[in-house]
Amino acid sequence: MQPTLLSHAKITAFGAYVPEQVLRNDDLERMVDTNHEWIVQRTGIYERRIASDEQFCSDLCFAAVRDLQSRYDAVLDDVDFILVATTTPDTYFPSMSARVQAEFGIASCGAVDIQAACAGFVAALQLANGLLLSGVHRKILVIGAETLSKATDYTDRSTCILFGDGAGAVLVERSEEGAFLGSYVRTTGEEGHHLYRSSLSSSIGGHPIDTTGKIVQNGREVYKWAVTQVPKGVASILEQNGCRAHELDWFVPHSANMRIVESVCEKTGIPVERTLTSMAQYGNTSAASIPLALDLALKDGRIKTGDIMLLYGFGGGLTEAALLLRWTL
Ligand code: ACO
Repeated sequence: MQPTLLSHAKITAFGAYVPEQVLRNDDLERMVDTNHEWIVQRTGIYERRIASDEQFCSDLCFAAVRDLQSRYDAVLDDVDFILVATTTPDTYFPSMSARVQAEFGIASCGAVDIQAACAGFVAALQLANGLLLSGVHRKILVIGAETLSKATDYTDRSTCILFGDGAGAVLVERSEEGAFLGSYVRTTGEEGHHLYRSSLSSSIGGHPIDTTGKIVQNGREVYKWAVTQVPKGVASILEQNGCRAHELDWFVPHSANMRIVESVCEKTGIPVERTLTSMAQYGNTSAASIPLALDLALKDGRIKTGDIMLLYGFGGGLTEAALLLRWTL
């Protein structure tokens, strides 16, 4: 392995949260024309968690950070920057990161939300590495949190079977021996109209769009893009860093669809058993899906200190962000 990323970053604490309410495939059978077998065979999803009417993205962020505090005895007073990746904030402003600063009474820090859909959590980790490398910041709280259920059209069977809610949080601190080893980004904005959530405009690059503010996806087009581009990105980041597929302890792709993950594994030579996913339990939770997969594997003891893992976010934009790192907890 020949790491290519300049890094002074390592993860020093981790937390996660999912709402209590469960939406199973048989619940969806009563809502739209679908069935458990189709959903499992096409997506690998069994159930998802749904935020209550009173629970919003900020609440999920707070709960994930409280979990981080209790699991790692983490101190937040000296956090000097907060990055929250989300596409479903309670409000556009104040940002979710500013809400987290206030909730935990962090004295003085920067607070920025970033929006890179399902690539958001990994993109935020890449940005955190840059901020730490600059020498200006020393301790950054990075959160991926979504309440996708609040932006899901539960009459559209092609999307409502996919999405769920959840959040994950990590502390990334300055360390001379950086544990972020390699990085990869790619954007295919020309195809952005295949997956969107509208806001103020009724078109994307000349393509008229639905303006309900619900998530709209051309599943076939996004699927084709994912199974074509993600294997190329995986091969590229591994090759750049002199890492062979079998040397990875864990591949942690965005949990969009198990068929996409299997196809990427087949094309890249990564054994499926070496992947960590969260879609079976939680559905597609966009910016939260990678930390939720880590949470499941930390809880059952699969992840060990020093493991080499490749996090790979991909989705709306269409965006990709990947990070090769050594697990330091
Ligand atoms: N239940 C039963 N049948 C269904 C359902 C359903 N819930 N949804 C669609 N169908 C039908 C379709 O109508 C179609 O029927 P037809 O052939 O008679 O027209 C048939 O099943 C096949 O439909 P496809 O859309 O081709 O189904 P596909 O196998 O592509 O699966 C899915 C759909 C699961 C959405 C898949 O396309 C997918 O996972 N796409 C990529 C998702 C992704 O990676 N997104 C990126 C990240 S998400 C983000 O960024 C927010």
